Amino acid sequence: MDKLNKDINRVLYDQSRIEARVRELGAELSKDFLDKNPVLVCILRGGVVFLSDLMRYMTIPLEIDFMSVSSYGDSTVSSGIVQIRKDIDIDVTNRHVIVIEDIVDSGLSLQYIIDFLEKRNPKTTSICAFLDKTSARKVPIKIDYFGFEVENDFVVGYGLDFANKYRNLPYIGILKEEIYK
Ligand code: IMP
Ligand code: MG
Repeated sequence: MDKLNKDINRVLYDQSRIEARVRELGAELSKDFLDKNPVLVCILRGGVVFLSDLMRYMTIPLEIDFMSVSSYGDSTVSSGIVQIRKDIDIDVTNRHVIVIEDIVDSGLSLQYIIDFLEKRNPKTTSICAFLDKTSARKVPIKIDYFGFEVENDFVVGYGLDFANKYRNLPYIGILKEEIYK
């Protein structure tokens, strides 16, 4: 881990804090979606760590599916131009869909994803994001469930990457600017 840790400026949320928070979210979702058999749609690849922890704290029947989107533009700023690389396989007509995201930054990718999913006429769509970078928002989007708020820094770990690296860090940390500037 040292080769990854050295690129981190500061740890924002450590493993035990994350675990406690995800456990709370799992309990909240289990209550809100009781008898609703929701479909958790995980946005690849950043959402996988969050999904795999969160679903194990959910105590109700549920299904999971995956979507992969690519956003063009430079790597630390979202362009809002989104392309669907992998669609979900489950028919979500009349189902309760919960989109599982790593972080909501500008909100542009998520807005596109929600519009895309709503064309399938789900009964409801909700958003569950591990991190909410509120100050970077460019479009108003309602995050129904989130783990933590973060400032406008570039963060990695717990699924979040820079150039596909650092996803396996068990904590959320701020990446040193010299790594990406
Ligand atoms: P948005 O469309 O600007 O909301 O971008 C959301 C996507 O950008 C997330 O799903 C992440 O993949 C990526 N992203 C935004 N901010 C960060 C960050 O601080 N660290 C890592 N990835 C980020
Ligand atoms: Mg992402």
